[in-house]
Amino acid sequence: MYQNWEELEKSIINCNKCKLCRGRTNIVFGTGNKDAELMFIGEGPGADEDRQGEPFVGRAGKLMNMAFDIVGIKREEVYIANIVKCRPPKNRNPEKDEAQACINYLRNQVVLVNPKVIVLLGSVALKNILGEEYQITKARGNWVEKKKILYMPTWHPAALLRDESKKIDFIKDLKQVVEKLQKI
Ligand code: URA
Ligand code: SF4
Repeated sequence: MYQNWEELEKSIINCNKCKLCRGRTNIVFGTGNKDAELMFIGEGPGADEDRQGEPFVGRAGKLMNMAFDIVGIKREEVYIANIVKCRPPKNRNPEKDEAQACINYLRNQVVLVNPKVIVLLGSVALKNILGEEYQITKARGNWVEKKKILYMPTWHPAALLRDESKKIDFIKDLKQVVEKLQKI
């Protein structure tokens, strides 16, 4: 565990701890406010993110930004990262060994940011952070407290692109997050 961002960022530069290193253009480390009270965890970079080196800048990201606007979350005030930092080929889900190889970077990011609330975007984030026994269809919208951090599992924004009805849930879940942060 690194005690500062500089060392952590330096440690990942040439990472080849898993096979995803072969296909990447950029490592997508994370972005935003390093002192954020609110953090978002996605799955892994897509093509746009791989090209630009920043999480959630493609179609799913633009939809997430729109949802942020609706509930009053400012993107620059939160911290955003993914389970894996390199793009899985053809946007497939990260495999177990890849997530395991990468997750210590994310754990270190969580320790350094020290957020009060973490939003878990989709099944991959949910299972890798809270445990394989969780299912997104049942867990979404419900708070889970673990080691003094409050977790809100919700749909992955890419799922909203496939199923319009999930947008209402997503907004509802983010509203719960905003209300919670006003209370704590
Ligand atoms: N999907 C993710 O899970 N993360 C991104 O950064 C972009 C799309
Ligand atoms: Fe390293 Fe993570 Fe990229 Fe794998 S996905 S090569 S563990 S930075």
